[in-house]
Amino acid sequence: MKATGRLILALDGVDSRQSVDLMQRLGGVTRLCKVGPALFHSGGRELLERLGEIGVEVFLDLKFHDIPQTVFSAVRNLCAPPVRFLTIHALGGPKMMRRAVEAVREAAGRNGSPVDLLAATILTSLGPADLPGLGIDRPLEEETRNLALLARDSGLQGIVCSGREAGSIRTACGNRFLIVTPGVRPAGGPSQDQVRTVTPAAAIRAGADFLVVGRPIMQAADPVAAAREIDAEIETARKARKER
Ligand code: C5P
Repeated sequence: MKATGRLILALDGVDSRQSVDLMQRLGGVTRLCKVGPALFHSGGRELLERLGEIGVEVFLDLKFHDIPQTVFSAVRNLCAPPVRFLTIHALGGPKMMRRAVEAVREAAGRNGSPVDLLAATILTSLGPADLPGLGIDRPLEEETRNLALLARDSGLQGIVCSGREAGSIRTACGNRFLIVTPGVRPAGGPSQDQVRTVTPAAAIRAGADFLVVGRPIMQAADPVAAAREIDAEIETARKARKER
């Protein structure tokens, strides 16, 4: 059964055993977690299987950015439960993104379990001042929107972007396009290496569907309480959004 919550816990800085323990403790709050490169490298498929056994679904955030055929093979091999979301970089271009969509379809044909393919746009650790150095002259919001439209037109289910751009992407890409937002900080929390941060409520108000939250929960004295508080803020904001 698909998890119904909207909070994805980023399992950063923990090993496989700690990840499974934490997700077990968080069972009443969220059944969605993010596995990034470091944890996937150490835990691999065995970790995914273990998370699947305890009813957890995975946002596998490996952000592929390579030639189309290489991305096709990587995506095809990883599309199986408990993976629910998988990321590639929109900057890999439309040909790479379309090939990744083909890989998801091929895998779904085999195991009947379609994965939502999401494109990373401009990382939330970058700010407007970083773009000229990367050869990007457009304003950040316009660049992110353009990448989101490219992803949508290449057949992807959604994108990852900061809460600051979520509103304009929702308007440009429509209501069925998934928006997953990292760089979330409860009011008054430290931003650490994130630049374009927003609060959980602001991200939901802007149109985000799912929030990826790491350090505000992982480094809290009581991670379960911190997650519960953020989840409650998300649900209150979602209710208010529906009533608007
Ligand atoms: O600790 P914090 O809440 O900043 O963690 C955010 C998580 O979201 C990290 O695991 C990071 O890799 C991920 N992420 C991000 N920006 C993106 C995509 C994913 O911060 N564009």
